[in-house]
Amino acid sequence: MTTPDWDGDRYAEIATLQHDLGRRFAAELSPPPNARVLDAGCGDGFVTRLIADRPEVAEVVGFDPSPLMIRAARDDAHPSIEFIEGDVTTFTTAQPFDLAVSLNALHWVHDSVAALSRLREAVHPGAAVVCQFVPEGERPSVEDVAFSVATAPAWADWFGGFGAPHVHRTRGEWRDIATSAGLVVDDATERDLAWDFGSAAAFRAWCALGFTAYTDRLPPERHDEFVTRVTDEYGRVTGSDQVFRFLQLRLASHRP
Ligand SMILES: C[S@@+](CC[C@H](N)C(=O)[O-])C[C@H]1O[C@@H](n2cnc3c(N)ncnc32)[C@H](O)[C@@H]1O
Repeated sequence: MTTPDWDGDRYAEIATLQHDLGRRFAAELSPPPNARVLDAGCGDGFVTRLIADRPEVAEVVGFDPSPLMIRAARDDAHPSIEFIEGDVTTFTTAQPFDLAVSLNALHWVHDSVAALSRLREAVHPGAAVVCQFVPEGERPSVEDVAFSVATAPAWADWFGGFGAPHVHRTRGEWRDIATSAGLVVDDATERDLAWDFGSAAAFRAWCALGFTAYTDRLPPERHDEFVTRVTDEYGRVTGSDQVFRFLQLRLASHRP
């Protein structure tokens, strides 16, 4: 499976939700003094910059497999951040970090054990690995709805052999995966959140940006129709065509 590319500039324009989550995520971190921090799946670097601005942080490396995201991140240079292309399942470093973090990237990575193993290897013994992402829940997620629309007969011509780009696992599965990746889990808190986009059109625009794994398979003239079909179906799950409801699991662990 190839990693879908994300349009870094468009992402920065529409990512108000990610930025709000990013502010909370960065504020809840506890980096040690003079920390070197690793941000896995850094996207356009918004959260990476917030982390770098914390007084305890000396230096941050942000990496992402998307060349468009890394280009957008580098466009807003920061003196103590290095942005590089990289994949969390293969990432290695010769200089271990004091803290590794990842926000809303790991539910796009199929090999979760490899991802957490690489993050464990990237930090010093005793250092924390803090990842937040979407887990499996009882309510169908927008990603679940997109996949069920794509695999319905009406769209089958374009989605033959298509596998879901997202990976949602329960909190218990994530605990087990972290343990088998050699991490000690300190906390696994799940939050059920909602974000009102203010209009159905704004919610569709946000979905369109995150659904490139789907729309890349479609002729351009059918992109809007696909996204609208997903948001209509999803509206039946949530009762609203402009409110996004989603879970966030904050998996806080450390390398023993
Ligand atoms: C929703 S964005 C989150 C970006 C940023 N962390 C934020 O919170 O704004 C998800 C990011 O995960 C990245 N990603 C997908 N697969 C990845 C992988 N195998 N390794 C690292 N990052 C990955 C995507 O390229 C994308 O930039």
